[in-house]
Amino acid sequence: MKKSDVVKMIFDHDLNKERRREKGSAFAPTNIALCKYWGKRNVELNLPVTSSLSIALPDKGALTTVSVCNDVSDNIVLNGNKLNQDTPFVIRTCQFLDLFRANTKWFLDIDIKMNIPVAAGLASSACGFASLILALNDLFNWNLSKRELSILSRLGSGSASRSLWMGFVEWHAGVQADGMDCYAEPLRWEWPGLNVGILAVSHQAKSVSSREAMQRTIDTSALYGSWSKKVAHDMPLLKQALQNKNFSLLGGTSESNALTMHAAMLSSWPPVCYFLPETLAFMQKIWKLRQEGLDIYFTQDAGPNLKLLFLEKNAGDVKEQFHDIEIIRVFP
Ligand code: DP6
Repeated sequence: MKKSDVVKMIFDHDLNKERRREKGSAFAPTNIALCKYWGKRNVELNLPVTSSLSIALPDKGALTTVSVCNDVSDNIVLNGNKLNQDTPFVIRTCQFLDLFRANTKWFLDIDIKMNIPVAAGLASSACGFASLILALNDLFNWNLSKRELSILSRLGSGSASRSLWMGFVEWHAGVQADGMDCYAEPLRWEWPGLNVGILAVSHQAKSVSSREAMQRTIDTSALYGSWSKKVAHDMPLLKQALQNKNFSLLGGTSESNALTMHAAMLSSWPPVCYFLPETLAFMQKIWKLRQEGLDIYFTQDAGPNLKLLFLEKNAGDVKEQFHDIEIIRVFP
């Protein structure tokens, strides 16, 4: 099964030019996984081995505007800069667009405004693909459901399937070969007072992509076999924490989940290590502060930056300890 087969299953009609609007536009927030997606059961369709759970960062993400142009290629402007056709970002975006123009040829002017660094482990591809699919849905008046849009954004990047909603989101791994049961959905819980702090260590693009790193982990890490068990253990705990507003359970489970993912990566060959010395120094500081009574936890994705989890009532203390931290209230 190919990506294009999934697109055909969702569109039972040709993409109709006549219903096209002048412009399509949409914002999608970036999301931080508290229970991570690490490893695919189907690489072509980005079907994950396990389900995952995330929180959206409402002010951080991508605003994408699309319109059909008269050119013979897509033009992509990212934060005001026109990108060269041979950059990986453009190639990946154009390949994704090709899925939707098998019969009709059109090319787009795409303007993306992103307020997070690209490819530095801050889920830029998640909000990028999610905002692009929402903008296309707007431009072509597809009127697709959120479930269908989640499936389509997953074809661009797995974690993009979760970036269509604010708040807590669960992405179901599903079992079907065509992935039609593999989509994300918002969870009902809200948590006013929950904060995420971005502790930037480096804004450099990562040397090993998360795509490559997760495949290497599956192929070579002796610890990968434990990953599904870890997720099966953590998912119910996270939901219990959300239900009961049990912050230490939420923070502890999220931190331990991220560290298990990184342990599996470290034991891959060649090893994948996203820690920089500063990352480790911050971790040690967080563990020390926690011992001293500050309720603060971290999570880390495929990059050296940490995302801190803490409650609004501790925001002042956290800011005092980490001067450069960017604090985001997840339910403003
Ligand atoms: C560590 O969604 O970027 O952020 O599906 O290959 O595009 P592809 O991978 P991607 O991987 C994200 C990995 C992660 C964990 C997570 O967001 O769940």
